[in-house]
Amino acid sequence: MDKFIVKGGCHLNGEVSISGAKNAALAIIPAVILCDEPCRIENVPNISDVRLIGKILCEMGANVTRVSKNVLDIDARNIKYPVAVSNSVRGMRASYYLLGALLGKFHKASVAMPGGCNFGVRPIDQHLKGFAAMGGKSQTLNGAIVEVSSDRKLHGAHIYLDVVSVGATMNIMLAAVKAEGLTVIENAAKEPHIVDLANFLNSMGANIRGAGTDVIKVRGVNYLKGVTYSIIPDQIEAGTYMAAAAATRGKVLVKNVIPKHLDSITAKLSEMGVEITEYDEAVLVDATQGNLRVCNIKTMPHPGFPTDCQPQFAALLATVDGTSTIKESVWDNRYQYVGELVRMGANITVEGRIAIIEGGELLNSAPVKATDLRAGAALIIAALCADGDTEISNIEYIERGYEEVVEKFRSLGADIRKKFDPETVVVTA
Ligand code: UD1
Repeated sequence: MDKFIVKGGCHLNGEVSISGAKNAALAIIPAVILCDEPCRIENVPNISDVRLIGKILCEMGANVTRVSKNVLDIDARNIKYPVAVSNSVRGMRASYYLLGALLGKFHKASVAMPGGCNFGVRPIDQHLKGFAAMGGKSQTLNGAIVEVSSDRKLHGAHIYLDVVSVGATMNIMLAAVKAEGLTVIENAAKEPHIVDLANFLNSMGANIRGAGTDVIKVRGVNYLKGVTYSIIPDQIEAGTYMAAAAATRGKVLVKNVIPKHLDSITAKLSEMGVEITEYDEAVLVDATQGNLRVCNIKTMPHPGFPTDCQPQFAALLATVDGTSTIKESVWDNRYQYVGELVRMGANITVEGRIAIIEGGELLNSAPVKATDLRAGAALIIAALCADGDTEISNIEYIERGYEEVVEKFRSLGADIRKKFDPETVVVTA
């Protein structure tokens, strides 16, 4: 298997440009299924999860053309059947958006149960509850395929989400865009990518109001026209480079961001004594002045501190003298990476949903394994601060969500390289 080799001990310095948001792209690309004309999507991150959703759409009959590294042309008019059950579909959590998009177009959908990063049980009951309220009955076949269908066009409904779910909010929006009448989603999630999906759908002619608040109203329309749309910058990728800059006591200008989306991350870094300067589309993270302070973090739905930045901040806090705590309140089981950080000399104990970090010990290099995407990012950060060469395996997790991660870190002065496993190299004639 390919690995990253990271030599620790540098202070990151320079500028890094943030790519388009993975979690917005993974909803917006399937949303094109609902469009009655071709679309051009810009600022698409060139990461393996996005390549996979593109492949899935192609398997279903769509034409997906990569015009340039970050621009896709998608024509989904040739998708004739509401079925997505290939192995590719199982390879990714976000393939659940195919349910909402296919249901919205065909009022039927058969989609293989999603895979993706594993942080405990990941139910989709709230998605299905929303579809049911709109007339879509669901069943699971052999525990492997979810089928949702309605005899007629879906109808609008009043849906209260029992948990604040990003996926359920976006999936119900997708199903509601062409439904008959008004759908109201209460206790909706408010993440930036929800607003981005709503903006994309509205630019095609949808009628969605309230995205970014906890009540979203979707009035169904019959036709969606083709558009050119640019995806927002990735809040979590930005937060990762911000944490890495702080952990290495470096100074990094993180460019192509929407600073407002980074408020909770900026607040925690400022609390720790990192100097942050906000510009219109960039933030400067300066930790060169030395001693950082401990802090306590609780993950929450937006605008709270994002769970997807939790592991990276654990790695950062492991470098700060004193006791910090993290409370994970979104996922049941998101501390699998802790064992790997402990192998690198971090002093972290986990009690239920709380991680207690006794920071300040010099981290040491070790062979470690990414247990999921953001866990992998945390290992890179820890490795940058460790003494010696750290070998990180399972990097395919990291490549799901970070565009040109080696190049970007190297441009900031990091000594990181990808070691290819000759066994996995495919030679073509
Ligand atoms: C998305 C992100 C993921 C991020 C998460 C929270 C994508 C592809 N993934 O995941 O990186 O960590 O948001 O910001 O965008 N829940 C239920 N029933 C449901 C749905 C969710 O109980 O039907 C629970 C989950 O188990 C979890 C919580 O709600 O405890 C939040 O999950 P949700 O916001 O739905 O996460 P995802 O959309 O899957």
